[in-house]
Amino acid sequence: MNKKLVKEVKSSFKEQFKTKPLLVFSPGRINLIGEHTDYNDGLAFPAAINKGIVLALSKSDSNKSTACALNKNEIYKFNTENIKPLEDGGWRNYVLGVVAELQMAVKPIGNFNAVFAGNIPGGAGMSSSAALENSFVYGLNKLFKLGLSKTEMILISQKAEHNFAGVKCGIMDQYASMFGVKKSALLLDCRTVTSQPYKINFKDYKLMLINSNVKHDLSESAYNDRREVCEKVSRLLHIDALRDASKEDLDCIKFDITDEDYQKALYVINENNRVKQFSEAINKDDIEALGDLLYQSHEGLSTNYRVSCDELDFLVERAKENPNVLGARMMGGGFGGCTINLIKKDEFKTFKKDTTKKFRQRFEKDCTVYSVKLSRGTKIVK
Ligand code: GLA
Repeated sequence: MNKKLVKEVKSSFKEQFKTKPLLVFSPGRINLIGEHTDYNDGLAFPAAINKGIVLALSKSDSNKSTACALNKNEIYKFNTENIKPLEDGGWRNYVLGVVAELQMAVKPIGNFNAVFAGNIPGGAGMSSSAALENSFVYGLNKLFKLGLSKTEMILISQKAEHNFAGVKCGIMDQYASMFGVKKSALLLDCRTVTSQPYKINFKDYKLMLINSNVKHDLSESAYNDRREVCEKVSRLLHIDALRDASKEDLDCIKFDITDEDYQKALYVINENNRVKQFSEAINKDDIEALGDLLYQSHEGLSTNYRVSCDELDFLVERAKENPNVLGARMMGGGFGGCTINLIKKDEFKTFKKDTTKKFRQRFEKDCTVYSVKLSRGTKIVK
């Protein structure tokens, strides 16, 4: 968490609303492996990070709510009664979505004032939207004493994303952001919505994120299309979700579906197995195996599931050329955002310099490199 960010949000809030706010920090997330498995009731391996959203909140004594997005210098006023999604509402729809879904799940709430700001690069696949939703649901739950559990809260955040942002996302982002554990990644079972924290010792290696700076827009129908394909194949297999299928099952209906749909379902089945192998490799302290699984995951995302792009493929290819990188893959929903790389600590700087240069030569624009810490989930800031 960034102290400067907390200070900025707090002082802007006090200036505007002349009162002491409730402060919430809600982090973004990374995902080690298990991409597009969450809405298939499968397994994923995310972690909350030390970048996120700080939200300042208090009850309003007027009949208006005010939300201020400090980074964008934008203010939106609304009333908590009769909320509907806005066309091209951007961040406003996440706020409205949480308020509407919260009221639907629990009871009407009063008006409130809010100021928020964050340091998660937008569109990088680090779930700034889940961080925003969770900050509001967590803050409002506290402010209006609604008594919701964390699991109830993330289901509200997810519904906000479905019904107000139009993305039929799974539960991974909201889960990781809410339940993150310091220095750990979470082996998440998206069917039971429970997880097991893994304190991972990467030894001489560390994680490196490289942002292609290609902005992905998940509300683009591509994400929802993938989900529909998975659900269609599951129905044909008479199962609840692809988590329950094996390659042998899928092969039985191979000629009843298109090759593209076959490839996509196969990817999900394989990726779900890779998450299991990944956790086994951690238990055995087999760092090299982790790297291999990352490369396999990318291959599947790129060629079978088709959610990568030239820039992401290029970054993974550069990683493969370098023996100091054990593995790399695109991370998150896809079509842009970051790659996640497992790289030798001593080689971080050299690889960063080299890749940045090559990326610029190839695409005539810059990529951005980050290192992140695995951190605690959504919390009140004292
Ligand atoms: C986005 C969604 C998640 C998940 C990932 C892909 O981040 O919000 O639910 O499906 O894509 O793994």
